[in-house]
Amino acid sequence: MADTPKSYWNSAREGLRSVELRAAGFDPAAAEKLNAVVTVAGPYTNAHRCNNRVRRIADLLVEAIARRGGQGLLVGAPAVSDALTQGTAHAGYSLASRELVADCIETGHQAQHAQAMIVVSGCDKSGAAALMPLARTNAFGLVVYPGTSSPGRVDSGPWAAKGENLTLMDYAEARAGRDAGRISDDVVDKLERCIMPGSGTCGAMFTANTMSTIAEAIGMMLPRGASHPADYDAASDVHDDVKAQVRASVDALYGLMAAGLRPRDIMTPQAFENAIVTAFAMGGSTNFVLHLLAVAREAGVPLTIERIQAVGERVPLIASLQPHGPYAMVSLHRLGGVPVVMKELLEHGFLHGGAMTVTGRTLAQNLRATPTLAQLGTQDVVWPVARPIAAAGNHISVLKGNLAPESAVLKLSGKTLERGVFRGMARVFESESDTLQAIRAGNVRPGSVVVVRNVGPAGAPGMPEMVMLTIELQGRGLGEQVALITDGRFSGVSHGILVGHVSPEAAKGGPIGIVREGDAIVIDPRARTLTLELDPTEIARRLASRDGSRVGPPLRPGSVLDKYARLVSSAHYGCVL
Ligand code: FES
Repeated sequence: MADTPKSYWNSAREGLRSVELRAAGFDPAAAEKLNAVVTVAGPYTNAHRCNNRVRRIADLLVEAIARRGGQGLLVGAPAVSDALTQGTAHAGYSLASRELVADCIETGHQAQHAQAMIVVSGCDKSGAAALMPLARTNAFGLVVYPGTSSPGRVDSGPWAAKGENLTLMDYAEARAGRDAGRISDDVVDKLERCIMPGSGTCGAMFTANTMSTIAEAIGMMLPRGASHPADYDAASDVHDDVKAQVRASVDALYGLMAAGLRPRDIMTPQAFENAIVTAFAMGGSTNFVLHLLAVAREAGVPLTIERIQAVGERVPLIASLQPHGPYAMVSLHRLGGVPVVMKELLEHGFLHGGAMTVTGRTLAQNLRATPTLAQLGTQDVVWPVARPIAAAGNHISVLKGNLAPESAVLKLSGKTLERGVFRGMARVFESESDTLQAIRAGNVRPGSVVVVRNVGPAGAPGMPEMVMLTIELQGRGLGEQVALITDGRFSGVSHGILVGHVSPEAAKGGPIGIVREGDAIVIDPRARTLTLELDPTEIARRLASRDGSRVGPPLRPGSVLDKYARLVSSAHYGCVL
């Protein structure tokens, strides 16, 4: 095995080690013969569907490692579900958990002297938090995805026509429609029972699947590992495709150790560009911008938000997945998964085919056996580059301007603005709940630009997702007529005319803090600008007269969020600590 130093376990007879191993139920003599000691890490909980299969997968990995002559050692971490925290006072723990999970995995891995690492991901941030310790420690390793939720279906009502492609987004928007009196209780009740038959992450191109796609596209997950369903239903074992990924991932790990191939040999600048291209082509969540910057920092790759824009702006949208299309992630999996999209992108020169992957082969070699779109025949889940769902430049764009001197991230999900720009009058709110109240009371009219501020990385703290607001706007039919700008962020479920990650944030003195009711704001996707239409002298006067510090209730000293607020950087830099 190349470059795998003896670990604590392989030298068990020295000093007190055999005492410790025996007391923990291990045989010291057997430990000396191990060919690898592997951290098997992941954020596990039985509290929610996104990560509740992680422990089972970790156990399967330990068994598979044992069959290869190694020992898997478990490392746990907290698993935060956005579905359980969004819109609540605990929403800030979501993004903050990214660093916490990465730190837990690094700590456990180093403390137990392991030589390699397999990380099981899950809900949104755990996708980034899986890649971060691999890049940070550069231990041999790769990522396994627990899987996404199988889509649901209903046989009557307005959602029947979508077939077996219903996801949490359909349910959330139906609920908002019911609150607005547009949809009946019966329909919502039927959706609630049918929408998610089992475990798994939110089932389309939302943040968790965006991050699994990135892990695969960057080369740190086996092909077709980003899209499998987690199980068959809530009472079943994990899906057979997950079991196959587990076995293949352990084999791949041994291959990586034999070849001396480490994460930073794989996560190169070219690999990051492959991830950016694939995320844009598939209509990924805006959160990937934050997360990829954080992973790049760990990998020592000098990625910037401007580079993400430069690479992404030439990529057309070709995967017809929710929230911009009708299909669920499992529909793509049945077709062949992310490799089908990447094959089309590679054939049109968008990807670096020579990038190395955890298979020990290059991306181009991995994709050799993947069918082309022509070979797949009639289907409309993945569209050809020559006839895309939306031309390049119509999904995510990085904006700058006097409202976002560092940057902001616009999500259009393939839409083109009717007049090329969106110009509207500001409705200003200091919290998500105040905004929600105003939308529900009918106090947000078409033509408005809703400004939600003081919800940034340090201000909230934890930069919560404004998904309740975007769902409410969609459910009330205002998604195309009202824009939303915020120093918070969005869920992958969110769609509309959305500008998030406005930085500097209000709590750091950013100009979003000086916007007043009725000010005119212009979002210009072509010029890539976010502009407060005010005389520069008035902007300067307002900036000079505010203190720009954090508002909101005091943070308990020593709490996770208190520490986070002190350390976190701007969204422009990925909110890294
Ligand atoms: Fe966990 Fe969506 S809430 S993936």
